[in-house]
Amino acid sequence: MPEMKNCTCSCAKENDEQKYKKLAELMKQYKNSEGSLIQVLHIAQAIFGCLPLELQRYIAQGMGKPLSEVSGVVTFYSFFATRPRGKHVIRVCLGTACYVRGGKKIITRLEEILGVGVGETTKDGLFTFEVARCIGACGLAPVIMIDDMVYKQVKPEKLENILAQYN
Ligand code: FES
Repeated sequence: MPEMKNCTCSCAKENDEQKYKKLAELMKQYKNSEGSLIQVLHIAQAIFGCLPLELQRYIAQGMGKPLSEVSGVVTFYSFFATRPRGKHVIRVCLGTACYVRGGKKIITRLEEILGVGVGETTKDGLFTFEVARCIGACGLAPVIMIDDMVYKQVKPEKLENILAQYN
């Protein structure tokens, strides 16, 4: 069992051994089903908080797949994280509609407010700041998401008030 030091756990009472046991059982069930790697990665991220390389390696072994395939999936989809995330995840849409209607200005303002760049987590662990591709609300661009909440027609000057709701 690889040692996991980097991720925050969604279930603090469980130790690593129990988490790996749960994941191993799950992989046994999913191993032979077509297209199940993404589901296993989702569940693994929910159990461990993120998917660092040692965990990707463990999943590759358990699923009988090359590590390159597992890592390829993890890096392709923005909802998978290889490092621990903050309590809240901010995603700024940079799809075409949001980009042309001011998505870039939102990024710049968020960098100023949070003091971190895209892909980083604030020092207090409250926010992780990411960009997303189109999230399907183009008519109301520019759009950001904080956790599951979608904010539409966001103006940079409204961002501080929006963030103040989160603690
Ligand atoms: S481009 Fe941002 S919601 Fe579609």
